[in-house]
Amino acid sequence: MKGLITAGGRGTRLRPITHTKNKHLIPIAGKPMIVYAIEALKDAGITDIGITYNHDLDSLVNTLGDGKKFGVSITYIHQPSPIGLADCVRVAKEFIKDDSFVFFLGDNMVAGGISNFVQEFKKSKANFLLLLAQVPDPQRFGVPVFDKKGNLIGVEEKPQKPKSNMAVTGIYIYDKNVFKAFEGIDAIKPSSRGELEISDVHQYLIDHGFIVKTVNATGWWKDTGQGRDLLLANRLILEKHIDFKISKTSFISEDSDIQGEISLGNNSKIINSTLRGPIYIGENTVIENSYIGPFTSIENNNIILNSEIEHSIVFNDSKIFDIENRIDNSIIANNVMVKKRVNKPKVLNLMLGDHSSIEI
Ligand code: G1P
Repeated sequence: MKGLITAGGRGTRLRPITHTKNKHLIPIAGKPMIVYAIEALKDAGITDIGITYNHDLDSLVNTLGDGKKFGVSITYIHQPSPIGLADCVRVAKEFIKDDSFVFFLGDNMVAGGISNFVQEFKKSKANFLLLLAQVPDPQRFGVPVFDKKGNLIGVEEKPQKPKSNMAVTGIYIYDKNVFKAFEGIDAIKPSSRGELEISDVHQYLIDHGFIVKTVNATGWWKDTGQGRDLLLANRLILEKHIDFKISKTSFISEDSDIQGEISLGNNSKIINSTLRGPIYIGENTVIENSYIGPFTSIENNNIILNSEIEHSIVFNDSKIFDIENRIDNSIIANNVMVKKRVNKPKVLNLMLGDHSSIEI
């Protein structure tokens, strides 16, 4: 069995971050988001992995390489334009050949991995397997439609009036029959938003008599398409899914107060500060005279001085100086400066990129 992960798309719901960064490389508790998908496949025994991309191959290759460091082999597959998830499957045909494969959306995260689903698929006679999850807002997702006997008879993409409170997650398993959805006169067509929808592939397979198996996710599942989902995924990972380690080359001053689980990377320093875990702090980051609260991930080369922050993600190379209000529920990307204005007049002095969002 092979794996196929998406790393393309426009990331419009995560602007401005995605103006300069592929959303699949956004760090969550010390790892680019897509690495969680790679690790889930690896843990399920799948090491031959294709990754679809649109334009920024360099940033993916710089981060993931050929996959050796994760114990897998990565083949990068070009999707000429981001015209839908089904198109990612279509362009991967040459890589997949006649194998079965797990199709894993690179912005999806699932507790407890996917080994169970792979086993369920192998045990069954199904041609494809869909992982379902209960959600409060099914209109954001593909929604399964069942008949009275509980058989899956359809999948509706982002319906205004969802017929259930379930979502089809972004984790699917297919056999080679999936490629039939792109062949012949009844091949699936672009939707009203101009995309080849993965839900239309599922509807095609159901309508053509292929056997589907559905499995309900038992733990949490997250599509990190929006900022609040990223923060939630960060919280869920920090809650249960990281090995907290304090590097021998890091430093915690005696006047600091540390409670709860903390990960602290090489050469990072905590000086006269209060930390309440769970917290992930990467390398070469300095926290001084500050409070860092639960569910915060601060990556590498940051300086936080005389400030308070919690339930937030800070990427790399940023500075937060002398902020009196506690920063909460925030995502701060690379090379950002947030500091108190000391000169009069007492005004807000802003330089925000397109699609930025601040609450003051
Ligand atoms: C896509 C699929 C949708 C699925 C979701 C899961 O939506 O089209 O059916 O429920 O992924 O993450 P998108 O996130 O591209 O809007």
